[in-house]
Amino acid sequence: MDHFKGQPRLPTFAVPKRYDLRLKPDLDACRFAGSVAVNLDIVDPTNFIVLNAAELSVQNDAVSFTILDTPTKVLKPSRVELFADDEILVLEFQEKIPVGLGVLAIQFEGILNDKMKGFYRSAYEYNGEKKNMAVTQFEPADARRCFPCWDEPACKAAFKITLDVPRELVALSNMPVVQENKDGNLKTVWYQESPIMSTYLVAVVVGLFDYVEDHTSDGVKVRVYCQVGKANQGKFALHVAVKTLELFKDYFATPYLLPKLDMIAIPDFAAGAMENYGLVTYRETALLYDDQHSAAANKQRVATVVAHELAHQWFGNLVTMEWWTHLWLNEGFATWVSYLATDSLFPEWKIWTQFLDESTEGLKLDGLAESHPIEVEINHAQEIDEIFDAISYRKGASVIRMLQSYLGADCFQRSLASYIKKHTCSNAKTEDLWAALEEGSGEPVNKLMTSWTKQKGYPVVFVKVNDQKLEFSQSQFLSSGAQGEGHWIVPITICFGSYDVHKNFLLQTKSETRDVKEFLGSLITEDKGANSWIKLNVDQTGFYRVKYDESLTARLRHAVEKQILTASDRFGILDDSFALCMARQESLTSLINLMAAYREETDYTVLSNLITISHKINHIAADAVPDLLDYFKQFFINLFQYSAERLGWDPKPGESHLDAMLRGEILSALAVFGHDFTLNEANKRFQTFLVDRNTVLLPPDIRKATYVAVMQQATKSNQLAYDSLLKVYRETDLSQEKTRILGSLASSHDPDLILESLNFMLSSEVRSQDAVFGLAVSREGQDVAWAWLKTNWEHLKKTYGSGFLITRFVKAVVSPFASFEKAKEVEEFFATHPMPSIARTLKQSLERVNINANWVQGIQKETSLADAVKELAYRKY
Ligand code: BES
Ligand code: ZN
Repeated sequence: MDHFKGQPRLPTFAVPKRYDLRLKPDLDACRFAGSVAVNLDIVDPTNFIVLNAAELSVQNDAVSFTILDTPTKVLKPSRVELFADDEILVLEFQEKIPVGLGVLAIQFEGILNDKMKGFYRSAYEYNGEKKNMAVTQFEPADARRCFPCWDEPACKAAFKITLDVPRELVALSNMPVVQENKDGNLKTVWYQESPIMSTYLVAVVVGLFDYVEDHTSDGVKVRVYCQVGKANQGKFALHVAVKTLELFKDYFATPYLLPKLDMIAIPDFAAGAMENYGLVTYRETALLYDDQHSAAANKQRVATVVAHELAHQWFGNLVTMEWWTHLWLNEGFATWVSYLATDSLFPEWKIWTQFLDESTEGLKLDGLAESHPIEVEINHAQEIDEIFDAISYRKGASVIRMLQSYLGADCFQRSLASYIKKHTCSNAKTEDLWAALEEGSGEPVNKLMTSWTKQKGYPVVFVKVNDQKLEFSQSQFLSSGAQGEGHWIVPITICFGSYDVHKNFLLQTKSETRDVKEFLGSLITEDKGANSWIKLNVDQTGFYRVKYDESLTARLRHAVEKQILTASDRFGILDDSFALCMARQESLTSLINLMAAYREETDYTVLSNLITISHKINHIAADAVPDLLDYFKQFFINLFQYSAERLGWDPKPGESHLDAMLRGEILSALAVFGHDFTLNEANKRFQTFLVDRNTVLLPPDIRKATYVAVMQQATKSNQLAYDSLLKVYRETDLSQEKTRILGSLASSHDPDLILESLNFMLSSEVRSQDAVFGLAVSREGQDVAWAWLKTNWEHLKKTYGSGFLITRFVKAVVSPFASFEKAKEVEEFFATHPMPSIARTLKQSLERVNINANWVQGIQKETSLADAVKELAYRKY
């Protein structure tokens, strides 16, 4: 029996074809009972059946195997053993089971846990009474916590589900109900059999809900389920879902496979949302939209999350990754295509420019030596959680975007549609996608893309002009400033002084020189002189960074100021420059001079990144050059003044969605940099809000900024603002409002008050899914947060240790540090408190600390910095 232990995959002598699953949850006792009958195809004679199970109790006499021969024959296992570490159930039979069909029947019991995975309970209130609902969350590998099964994405089977539940409750599963029988206080609900699907997509929800309903033009019934009394808040998501289903049907040239789609808000939910086939589950904040109290950013979040999960109904559910190594096919692709859908529904959101937020997060993680390739080896279920990260999602989405723009939108779509057709109701690997695209385009897609998915990292392309010659060279970019070994096939796009004068080529070697005249041929008729700019990675569709020589850099800065470039290109120039600065390949002096060129910027995404970069510089300057900190703050205030004046505090009639989002971010930044007017105005408006929660003076889009501003002034001895904010938290029943508040509480400058807010995160008033929002601590809070993490480590481990949320705590607390001593201290703590499921995140966070520390040292050597920042702080425009 022991030889089945320690294997990454289940043995393949029994292949599941169909599950008949019956579950009976007890919501008061928080337990469940169940039975499963699995139709198996035995493909090799065997004495053993090995499947997954975890935290279930299975009695020896509750297992039988029926050989479907004439006559049928029932076998009882001689041994039934559950190996907890490997999460497998091994059944041994005295008699060899012959090749052919059979049915494995198992009865089992389990606990409705409070860990937001497997079959779990979520708490809610109904008419002032506390209640539990029962919910499943199976991805990546927790179906085995609900019923014994072949819990691997490649083991697809049909599911016929039956539930026994209290008669007054709503009971949902992947498929529509076929029959319902009431008997006393209970009812039994039978669901239609599903098409073949992976276990991680099976779902069940039992509780009290209201819903709103609509249908697509071809008759798919779509519902959004919410808390009783809040059905109105589901209307926006319902609209998006109906439109998106229609759009994806066209895009993939394949209809949605199931007769219905339910989407449901779950009060306790670890991820943002989960694409269960036909029953998509969400955090409340990612599904519900309240006209009065939700912000523009909340609306956008709902739209993109819905589009993402519905994309999975094709990419993931209909065609599933063969193994977790190909997780990025699911997540990277769904992320990319969710932008496509959102753009088609809401073109005014300029969502493709906002996509650059995804790319830059991907670039940030992948700039670490501790990154991993998109296609990553997975040897144990425990390792899967950690790869739901910026590499699988954001780098994955970015390399898809790069490929799409290289191949062209039409060719890309046609090839995808044929990929979906070919692998419908089956599984696929990364190579299968490349093969379809290669066939559709005639381009060597596999060769091109392998360099992006099988090795970690990405290149920085250096470009310089030299006597009518353009020189391109690539090397691996690392945020540490070190030179990596990687080498890529880079799709280079390039513009010369105008978007009409452009060229593309593949940079395959380390370096390449091109004669400008020859390269451009007839494109350039005259020499445009010193002001002509050159921009590589046009519209930032490529997943790489660019470093220009000095003269090209100066020309680009000029082009930024003159607003000749697209928003995406302005974003890219700033973002690359920031990355190069952190890697000490560019000075902070030159970066802040470039930032000043963005003063009159109006694009949301560009400004939002400028704000992020300012915060980061503010943080690092506090460590590196504390004497200059006030000048830095004044510089940032000066920098954002133009936007602050343009936007004001009150929404303008008919203003854009993007300006509405931007206002909050600008005000919040001004508050953090200590802008007096902003702080005072925030206080005034907050006071009005406290007496009238519907005041027009504090619309949802500026609430978070206002909360952050009032917390800037709160201290332990003057806690009024803090207490008032908590009062708002306790009184609201809108999750988005609660999240805004949790994200503001630790922005005070007083370590004692920060500690109080951190402790609040672990109180019964904060759902464990939300505590991590409270880790947005001010600079003064960094050491407090670290001390707090250590003090509460055992508790955190108990609450979060079995899921992926724990990694967020580690990253949030550790990565802002900027000294080698701290890195060492953190390392030592975790050496004595090891935890395999955070291993990757910890290494990455420590690497970030060391990068910060090196950056601090670099900045301290910059002799021209003081003069530069002083001049910029008080520059008159
Ligand atoms: N499949 C994931 C949900 C998931 C995440 C399951 C992590 C298990 C572990 C889902 O499709 C997803 O990607 N959700 C995102 C939201 C999305 C819009 C990026 C999430 O949960 O953050
Ligand atoms: Zn996803």
